[in-house]
Amino acid sequence: MELDPHELAPPDRYKLMIGCITPRPIAFVSTIAPSGTFNLAPFSFFNGAGSNPMTVLFCPANRPDGHEKDTLCNCKPRDEGGTGQFVINAAVAPYAAKVAGAAEPLDHGVSEFDLVGLTPAPSRVVAPPRVAESPFAFECETQQVIRTNPGAPGGGNVVLGRVVHLFVRDDLLNERMHVDPDRLQTIGRMGGLGYCRTGDRFEMPMGRAALDAPS
Ligand SMILES: Cc1cc2nc3c(=O)[nH]c(=O)nc-3n(C[C@H](O)[C@H](O)[C@H](O)COP(=O)(O)O)c2cc1C
Repeated sequence: MELDPHELAPPDRYKLMIGCITPRPIAFVSTIAPSGTFNLAPFSFFNGAGSNPMTVLFCPANRPDGHEKDTLCNCKPRDEGGTGQFVINAAVAPYAAKVAGAAEPLDHGVSEFDLVGLTPAPSRVVAPPRVAESPFAFECETQQVIRTNPGAPGGGNVVLGRVVHLFVRDDLLNERMHVDPDRLQTIGRMGGLGYCRTGDRFEMPMGRAALDAPS
């Protein structure tokens, strides 16, 4: 099937995006509102953008009424009215339901930490708290927000953040900075309401060597 995105209804574009781009890592993003309320929400349009300097990105889309989601309002740069900071926490199997639960839209002034029963812990460098139960936390300063369709329903926003401090639980790391995936237990998002676990993995070399390796 050949498809022209301009001829697709917006919900179908969305379904194709999340069905094809799989599996997606999930950023469990904590922010703090200018009023001081803690906010926590999952975002699967998420990835690393570079390691020198350590840079991440995630994409909070506009709400159906075209307004920006609370996470974006909170983390956008100070000169745009936000605090300019956020924390990326892990989305992991032991509290998977709390990750999905934190997507509940709540009124301003109500914290998803309370709704889902996770614990805010002080961050080292930034004001937003990290999730105490999370096996890692990347404290970030917002570098830039790129808006693909400002004010439009579902319009995309790319938040680029510089990692200014990391917490990683001691038992996850060996002396060579390798992270143990069996202890981390990250989950990923698929299409629809689907998720995946990361217990089924395989290894292969890169480049030509991959073609010669036994399958
Ligand atoms: C696993 C998961 C991944 C999500 N990924 C995204 C995403 O990448 N972008 C987005 O705009 N919303 C995403 N959502 C929906 C937001 O989490 C939801 O709109 C949330 O209420 C936003 O919170 P906020 O308004 O406090 O910022 C996702 C929801 C779930 C459960």
